[in-house]
Amino acid sequence: MLTSGSVSGKNVSQANPEALIKEDEIDARVRELAKQISEDYEDCGEIVLVGVLKGAFIFLADLSRRLTIPRAIEFIAVSSYGSGSRSSGAVRLVMDVRGSIEGRHIVIVEDIVDTGHTLKYLIGLIKSHRPASVKTCALVRKAERAEVDVEVDYLGFDIPDKWVVGYGLDYAEHNRTLPYIGIVTPAD
Ligand code: IMP
Ligand code: MG
Repeated sequence: MLTSGSVSGKNVSQANPEALIKEDEIDARVRELAKQISEDYEDCGEIVLVGVLKGAFIFLADLSRRLTIPRAIEFIAVSSYGSGSRSSGAVRLVMDVRGSIEGRHIVIVEDIVDTGHTLKYLIGLIKSHRPASVKTCALVRKAERAEVDVEVDYLGFDIPDKWVVGYGLDYAEHNRTLPYIGIVTPAD
């Protein structure tokens, strides 16, 4: 995760990032994912969506409201060491889930899978809470950046190796609330 400090002093706010995935395309895909998850967990009772802060907050809000099955919401926060826009691969837990998830069906909801280190770490962490099952859902994935093998059970879009912002994703805390997913050029 980036911090403002890592790129302080540089102009990182871009007014109109070039669109990669439009608002209506995101909306349509989120509906499809919600339908698929609802069907897959139809007979499982309540599922727990674990949103990964901060980037997944908008995706989680939309996805959770499109589900037609009982669902509970938890949040988790992690940060990866490293500077600028490149993760070092070392992931640190900032905030664990609050409620008990033991024996429950978990879907981890991530904004983006880049190298895969964060999601891999999260799966291990969630498993340590002894849930009934763990699956993963990510809005976007940069497949060509993969460094570790990690399963994304519900994927929105595969995207090229570009820095993307909007729909929850940021560049040094900028452009998180952009309604579409756009491309920016990192300063580092
Ligand atoms: P990982 O390399 O798969 O561990 O990804 C780590 C984290 O880096 C993601 O959860 C995001 O918070 C962040 N990240 C990676 N690529 C991007 C991007 O293009 N835009 C915004 N955040 C990103
Ligand atoms: Mg993330």
